[in-house]
Amino acid sequence: MASKLALHGGTREVPQGAEKTHWPVITAEDKAAVQAVLDRGVLWAMTVPGGQLCPEQDALEREFAEFLGMRHVLAVNAGTAALHMALAAAGVEAGDEVITSAFSFLATPAAILHAGAIPVFADIDPRTFNLTADTIAEKITPRTRAILVVDIHGLCADWDPILALARKHQLLVLEDACQAPGASYHGRPAGSFGLASGFSVNGTKNFAVGEGGFLATNDDGIYARAGWIKQVGEIFPADHPFMSQQKYLAWNYRVQEMPCAFARSQLRRLAGYNAIARRNAAILESYLREIPGLHAPYVPAGYVSIYHKYRITLAPEELNTRLRGTALRDTFMAALTAEGVDVDLWGTAPLAVHPMIAGHHGFGHGYPW
Ligand SMILES: Cc1ncc(COP(=O)(O)O)c(C=O)c1O
Repeated sequence: MASKLALHGGTREVPQGAEKTHWPVITAEDKAAVQAVLDRGVLWAMTVPGGQLCPEQDALEREFAEFLGMRHVLAVNAGTAALHMALAAAGVEAGDEVITSAFSFLATPAAILHAGAIPVFADIDPRTFNLTADTIAEKITPRTRAILVVDIHGLCADWDPILALARKHQLLVLEDACQAPGASYHGRPAGSFGLASGFSVNGTKNFAVGEGGFLATNDDGIYARAGWIKQVGEIFPADHPFMSQQKYLAWNYRVQEMPCAFARSQLRRLAGYNAIARRNAAILESYLREIPGLHAPYVPAGYVSIYHKYRITLAPEELNTRLRGTALRDTFMAALTAEGVDVDLWGTAPLAVHPMIAGHHGFGHGYPW
């Protein structure tokens, strides 16, 4: 017989004081890597792509490109910066419409706004939480210039139909792979599907550095333009063609050597951490399969998820309860918390209703929520 729930006065399943992993895990090797930068005394430099002025940054960019199996990587100071660089370097301009997901972090539409463009939100598949070719197609207008597709929670979008749709309508394809380093779709890595992609290494991520990000691309032109945008437009001589292209508004997205050294050390363990996440997800799923009303994350055949977030879907119709919506969710969370399980909310409202989008810019008009 099932024991009494902690919520109802039973004993917690996770004992008080039980050891939990504090994220990110910081090892002696990580500390030595950062100390080595201080000993060297080179903390930063303006860099030319492929240059040797910042040994940690250069090596990190090479190593992350190898990890992805892609041609070029630029280390930057945030995933948000990488997304803006990707959009700008691809040629997204003021007034362009960019179709994206309202189920993402605010940085996704913020990067579009920062490029002077207009985010247009398409719906998501309720099982994968990602955009689909069909939902994107519904939002295409003559002003649509690009799509910024998110691989949410470490699961790739269904890229082949999306890429076919983009080819048909001649749309620029950008990828928000911020939550998905190491994920794959039919053997192809997250981050490799569009002209350019953005990754985040903020402290919550599977690849956690604190703050920072990467732009990844297989396109030499994007790489050159993004490198220019990253450094306030200062890396080329005054007569370089980019200097006269006023449409590229460059910014300062440079990184420091200490975080790059820390990131290199963390990157060596990323594949291992992702494997642990998959193993834990499989164990959890084997239990969840037995419990009505709770659905584990859906991972279609041919996809490898890195489970950046392990999102549970509640199915009240399978339960003997009249609770629905947030009332059911909050009861479920209270029960888990009472058992000592870490549980959190993420993405409780579509981004279209966020004040920065709906209020200030008025882009929330016309949406059903
Ligand atoms: C889906 C998504 N896009 C963009 C970002 C922005 O990354 P950062 O926080 O490094 O700027 C994040 C990270 O929080 C994210 O999860």
